[in-house]
Amino acid sequence: MVRSVLPRIRPRLFAIGAEARLYRFRWRGRDCVLKYRPPKTYRHPELDHRLRLERTQTEVRMLSRLPNLGIKTPSLYANLGVAIIMERVRRRGRANPVKVLETLHTHDIVHGDYTPRNFLGEYLIDFGLSSFDASLQKKAEDLLVATHAFGPWFFDRYSITKVKDAAVQVLKLGKYRKGFRWLDYLRRN
Ligand SMILES: Nc1ncnc2c1ncn2[C@@H]1O[C@H](COP(=O)(O)OP(=O)(O)OP(=O)(O)O)[C@@H](O)[C@H]1O
Ligand SMILES: [Mg+2]
Repeated sequence: MVRSVLPRIRPRLFAIGAEARLYRFRWRGRDCVLKYRPPKTYRHPELDHRLRLERTQTEVRMLSRLPNLGIKTPSLYANLGVAIIMERVRRRGRANPVKVLETLHTHDIVHGDYTPRNFLGEYLIDFGLSSFDASLQKKAEDLLVATHAFGPWFFDRYSITKVKDAAVQVLKLGKYRKGFRWLDYLRRN
């Protein structure tokens, strides 16, 4: 697909994230997104290339596997190394973010940036910081980030006790003290 597409598309930049630039274009009636991670000049060039490649390839694996777990993600159209082409999704429907995180954690997957910004309607996106062999500690951190971003109700509804206990331990160690407005709430409960 790639060789035949790239010379003919006119990509338009539509979002600049912390890591990536997102371009959209149409191809054979499909709405597509090209997500490209440009070099970061403050990093050593070799390390930089490795990180960009690793994160993009992690994203590729997540986009291919999560649909098998019943989690909606944009379809992957092409893997270009430090860039991918995927389906452009609309903010349609609504996911149950707690259920989605429980499903990920049950399969030893952490998202790494689990915030409402990374849901487009029912679709979960942005997997550069994900990992597939998550420890309890990593899951606990995922849960804390999610609770911070969605609100205290997230912690209440999330049901994997082991992970919740680990999250409380992480909080007690003080790592997340700063900025966690709901910490007192959690202490009381
Ligand atoms: N498949 C898609 N379809 C439609 N919009 C998308 C798609 N993928 C990404 N976007 C848009 O681009 C934005 C940035 O994408 P993404 O989160 O994957 O990149 P990022 O560099 O990690 O960005 P951020 O730093 O904002 O998290 C998203 O918030 C979303 O608005
Ligand atoms: Mg994002």
